[in-house]
Amino acid sequence: MLGKYFKHSLLKKIANRAGTPVYVYSAPAFLKQISTYKKAFKGLDPLFCYAMKANSSGALCALAAKAGWGADVVSGGELYRALKAGFKPGNIIFSGVGKTPAELEYALKTGIMFINAESMEEVLELERVAARLKVRAPLSLRINPDVDPHTHKFISTGRLGSKFGVSFEEALKIYMYAAESAHLNPVGAQFHIGSQVHKAGPYALAAGRLAAFIVKLASRGVNLKYADVGGGWGVKEGDEMPDPAALAKAVGSVFAGTGLKLVLEPGRSVAAPAGLLLTAVIYRKQSGKKNFIVADAAMNDLVRPALYGAKHPVALIGPGGEEKVFDLVGPVCESGDFLAQGVRLPEPAAGQLIAIYSAGAYGFSMSSQYNSRPRAAEVLITGPTSWRLIRRRETYKDLTACEI
Ligand SMILES: Cc1ncc(COP(=O)(O)O)c(C=O)c1O
Repeated sequence: MLGKYFKHSLLKKIANRAGTPVYVYSAPAFLKQISTYKKAFKGLDPLFCYAMKANSSGALCALAAKAGWGADVVSGGELYRALKAGFKPGNIIFSGVGKTPAELEYALKTGIMFINAESMEEVLELERVAARLKVRAPLSLRINPDVDPHTHKFISTGRLGSKFGVSFEEALKIYMYAAESAHLNPVGAQFHIGSQVHKAGPYALAAGRLAAFIVKLASRGVNLKYADVGGGWGVKEGDEMPDPAALAKAVGSVFAGTGLKLVLEPGRSVAAPAGLLLTAVIYRKQSGKKNFIVADAAMNDLVRPALYGAKHPVALIGPGGEEKVFDLVGPVCESGDFLAQGVRLPEPAAGQLIAIYSAGAYGFSMSSQYNSRPRAAEVLITGPTSWRLIRRRETYKDLTACEI
């Protein structure tokens, strides 16, 4: 399904010019996801804050900013990138369980829309920073709605007992405290139940709990403006479009007509289908009964298969030999270094290209220099035959650039 955005002939040209491994993104595919979200939520008039952690490439973020989206950032570094990419400060929200005083100061000086705080201690720190700057900090609390999103345990965040958010009981105390503070302005409430959530049911449950809580707060004199339902809408690997209409229905039926501004933080569902990792075959080998393709991309480039057992569709570019079942692995010295396992492919020749699809999210953004491997280049396809390099390949010099 994603093939139409990534023509094999174009991928070959890109690999020839930019080398491999290389992340290839499609601007038309990215923008299609954005417009599908907009259509699904038409009438609810939400603010979409693109979760930059999924892919913080300046070129992609600039597309989201130009489309009128805001940004969800989780570090001072992401805030810096968001501003550079052109997101309006008033459309930026700051999430994360451990924002430092310096990061809170940066956010307040920037004048972002609100900060999603996750503990009483963080709220007290925010109050101190705001007092020092002589401002009122726009505060939202990440609330843990204790809802099971039925996803991988590493990306499940909405159950009590996870490190994320505060319980409704604790949130009530914090909001009452904030309402009395000269330097805190409680404006919103948020949840984020996890990532790769494929059903709307958990959202409906969490949204219902959040809405009831917001009503309770109003009865105590604290009137919020924003209801933020986080991100996490799942995307089937290899699929072009997860239809967010079910999500819109689930949260829309709860918040429509409440006067609250709905905020969403989608990341993966926007970026994943819009990118692939292109790698070249170095060697083939056999071990026992297993056939291996050793490619020039590795877990340092794409860690999702090793970390979450993620399954990315792979395709050989060009004709191959006899079809066989392969493990696609990289050169890193770890048995966990695999990109795909047990995949059926025509036997490739050394030097042939393999595309690893649905790699636009949590691919490059989670990549590292492990094994002292310079990070991959990134390319953006802008039209049927046009593309440009948006990040150069790192060099050996880059590996030691920060050492003193
Ligand atoms: C607070 C928050 N918002 C949004 C997201 C984005 O989730 P996804 O990329 O699955 O849409 C995450 C992901 O971890 C998150 O922690």
